[in-house]
Amino acid sequence: MAAYDFEGHITDIPDYPEKGVVFKDITTLLKEPEGFHAAIDAIADHFKDAGVTKVVGAEARGFLIGAPVAYRLGAGFVPARKPGKLPREVRTESYELEYGTDELQIHVDALDEDDVVLIIDDLVATGGTAVAQAKLVSQYGCKLAGMGFLMELEFLHPREAIAKETDVDVFALVQVK
Ligand code: PRP
Ligand code: ADE
Repeated sequence: MAAYDFEGHITDIPDYPEKGVVFKDITTLLKEPEGFHAAIDAIADHFKDAGVTKVVGAEARGFLIGAPVAYRLGAGFVPARKPGKLPREVRTESYELEYGTDELQIHVDALDEDDVVLIIDDLVATGGTAVAQAKLVSQYGCKLAGMGFLMELEFLHPREAIAKETDVDVFALVQVK
């Protein structure tokens, strides 16, 4: 069977949300049952022997990929949310985006010292969101097993940003040069 054309099902939107940014719209991949399932299976398969106990996924698109990967791995799912969305005590990290800055929070009791954590998102661009999540995870003293993405914007060098924080396995299904 031919490999699924993930990249061909992701749509480029020039100058969105601001001039100069080419937005990668994954909704055209996710609406296709074959593409959605193949993407989740491929990411989960890459980490199947990593002993993952919890997947952390960032609001909002990280939920779309992180939750089904967690289910597939038999792991729990921990939402990393934008400020003011979680109802109980949180831990917080600030980060920079390709187009702005923001903060991510997770509940203070979301992870334990003995957890093995996988960070999952739809896309890694500057790596700022992934680094913020790695810093959040490190606040708990648990192991970070890796990071998995549907798409990596290689031209923004996210692996260099991530390598400054952690040397974990970074996997991306699609790499954009
Ligand atoms: C997008 C994307 C990643 C992040 C990647 O989220 O889903 O989380 O940007 O960019 P980075 O590598 O430069 O940090 P966004 O903050 O746009 O939020 P959304 O998921 O709510 O659309
Ligand atoms: N998040 C950060 N940069 C992005 C891009 N170019 N397309 C989609 N999501 C993004």
